[in-house]
Amino acid sequence: MNNRIVIFSAILLAACGNNPSSRTVTDTAGARTVTAVSLLPDPDNFLDTADGQATGLYFLHNGNLTAAITNYGARLVSLIVPDKNGTPTDVVLGYDSIGKYLHRPDTYFGAIVGRYGNRIGHARFKLNGKEYTLYKNNGPNTLHGGKKGFDAVVWNARKLDTTTLRLTYISKDGEEGYPGNLQVTVTYLLDSNGLRINYEATTDKPTVLNLTNHSYFNLNGQGTGTIGNHTLQLNANYYTPVDSTLIPTGKIESVTGTPFDFTKPTAIGARINDSANRQIKFGHGYDHNFVLNTVKLGPPEGYEEHGPAAIATGDLSGIVMSVYTDQPGIQFYSGNFLNGTNPLKGGKTDGYRTAFCLETQHFPNSPNEPSFPSTVLKPGEKYSTWTYFKFSTK
Ligand code: GLA
Repeated sequence: MNNRIVIFSAILLAACGNNPSSRTVTDTAGARTVTAVSLLPDPDNFLDTADGQATGLYFLHNGNLTAAITNYGARLVSLIVPDKNGTPTDVVLGYDSIGKYLHRPDTYFGAIVGRYGNRIGHARFKLNGKEYTLYKNNGPNTLHGGKKGFDAVVWNARKLDTTTLRLTYISKDGEEGYPGNLQVTVTYLLDSNGLRINYEATTDKPTVLNLTNHSYFNLNGQGTGTIGNHTLQLNANYYTPVDSTLIPTGKIESVTGTPFDFTKPTAIGARINDSANRQIKFGHGYDHNFVLNTVKLGPPEGYEEHGPAAIATGDLSGIVMSVYTDQPGIQFYSGNFLNGTNPLKGGKTDGYRTAFCLETQHFPNSPNEPSFPSTVLKPGEKYSTWTYFKFSTK
């Protein structure tokens, strides 16, 4: 639970080789982490209240991997993995204080997004004959849960052990216009190779649900410039083209012969400015849902049999991130709205296309598109999905 007493002792232990120095630091749950903590934000800077609830920063640690998560928006603040030389590298964009997250929640840095990840057209949908009206926060559409989505609420955090953080949130019937009291649990679990996120939910009325994590990755390290030379491979032969407001047209089109063909490893920047392509124009680059070739159902333990949905590689760091999921789609967003106005951790700044998101999820606007896989959750059913971000180097 939120332990408000946080001891932050900055004992510099050693600076070995290129490795950032270590110090002893205690997170909001009172757990000690000593590896690569000089890259981690000061947990003191996350002690505050929002909506009358305490916020804090929690560390997970396993082998060479460290993660920092705040219960504000259940956001992944830092994810530190070794690069090809063994140097700890923070591969996600984030802020170094809760104040900055509260000031700019709309970047969705590291957030759990809900109830509905991405857009619902005209901010409305029908379920069992009844129309539900949502908040228009993206032109005529609703985006990422509406005015105050799951990214901007305080979750209840419980550290189960040094590798596992469980976050829960109860979304009330009618919150942001969605029906049903929804009980949501998100578990971050760090193993020695990567970060697994498990999502679970139940409802007391039929509703729609599409949860994802909105981390912005730069595998060369957050704040190190363009992601144009990262390579990306997507296990997707099809994608869902959009209209000018980024709502899928309902068609499922082949990527072959288009800038959307990432079936072989390709530099993100290679075709991103192909202005002859209308879809690239609409997205201001990549901001599209890809239809994964295999819907990878089954327990997380079986993920390796299914193969990765995406593989991204940092050109300078050699860090390879493989994304496994049971979800049918992945929103690949190339950071087209980043513009250098967000002060990142460690005094760095963001910039146009200096990070990318791979949001594993159901397709945008599914509640209005009967041909897309259903996002309806009914009472008595259990929503249970998972995504795993696995790291290696080459
Ligand atoms: C998603 C959307 C983008 C953008 C980002 C957040 O990925 O598809 O259009 O809104 O979130 O900036």
